[in-house]
Amino acid sequence: MRDLELSDVLLHWYDANARDLPWRIPPAKSRGGQRPDPYHIWMSEVMLQQTTVAAVIKYFQAFTTRWPTVEALASAPDDDVMAQWAGLGYYARARNLLKCARRVVDEFGGNFPDTRDTLLTLPGIGPYTAAAIASIAFGRSETVVDGNVERVMARLFGIATPLPAAKPELTALAASLTPNARAGDYAQAVMDLGATVCTPKSPKCEQCPLSAPCLARADGRAAEMPFRSPKPVKPTRLGAIYVARNGAGAWLLERRPDKGLLGGMLGWPGAEWGEVAIEQPPFSANWQQMDREVLHTFTHFHLRLSVHVATVGNVNPTQGIFMPHTQFDPADLPTVMRKAFDVAQPAFDKD
Ligand code: ADE
Ligand code: SF4
Repeated sequence: MRDLELSDVLLHWYDANARDLPWRIPPAKSRGGQRPDPYHIWMSEVMLQQTTVAAVIKYFQAFTTRWPTVEALASAPDDDVMAQWAGLGYYARARNLLKCARRVVDEFGGNFPDTRDTLLTLPGIGPYTAAAIASIAFGRSETVVDGNVERVMARLFGIATPLPAAKPELTALAASLTPNARAGDYAQAVMDLGATVCTPKSPKCEQCPLSAPCLARADGRAAEMPFRSPKPVKPTRLGAIYVARNGAGAWLLERRPDKGLLGGMLGWPGAEWGEVAIEQPPFSANWQQMDREVLHTFTHFHLRLSVHVATVGNVNPTQGIFMPHTQFDPADLPTVMRKAFDVAQPAFDKD
């Protein structure tokens, strides 16, 4: 099958099988020339960078209900945006989201730029997101490559080179299939096919519009592909974290520095995590260690935290501030800090 025929087959499949997603214009309307709101496409694609569609939907709805336009988001207080992002992970995305919204308002009059190259100059927008916005929101013929697209290309063309070395080759194949017309629908078609039919573990080749030309299927190797070079094993880091509550019921929290892991998010005080746990309370008190630890996995390491609790009188901490319990919502915490709260909480229920 020629490349253009392949993209026609995919578009035809998409017309009948597109997922219904809150940021999306369904194919019938898109064929009629309707385009989605670039603000919605940008927001959803930033959220989808390292997160599944199922997890993103709720956050997308909360963000766009609370901040319906890029102007509204740009004028939101930083802390509100960070709190609304809590639980989605990769918090640099939330800081960049806000920076990007402010740049779009200050430099582009509130209109997202419509080319890949200009989009690439904005915070938090890399090649994937720039191509996704340019094609889906503005109809430009740009090639979107995510994990779904890589998997479909590797299988369809039977590419045996392992990932990540195969990336340039898979990107070139995806580009060769990208049509001039309906490039946005085409990008979403490949991603939807990868998410619903050409799935990582058990591809449904019998339902696939590409089953005839697919080389991996012909070889009976679909489920094993793409091949992958072995991943380096993740190290485990250790740490100790301190959850204190004062007589007025306020919680000792600190805002983490903007740079680095969980940057800009709220958290419980504690020293830096490393090969050994550093037990360094924010002040001296009758600290009690909880029996349960917190286990959490980040991109590059596993983390094990001991959790220490204390109820204190009037102290002036050197680290963090006491936040009145009326202002404290555990949902504002990033997941690892929320887990620490869940471990600590029984100690305070008794008080
Ligand atoms: N994953 C990331 N972006 C997507 C999109 N626009 N459609 C389907 N899946 C996606
Ligand atoms: Fe994927 Fe199977 Fe379709 Fe090939 S035939 S693209 S392996 S689902």
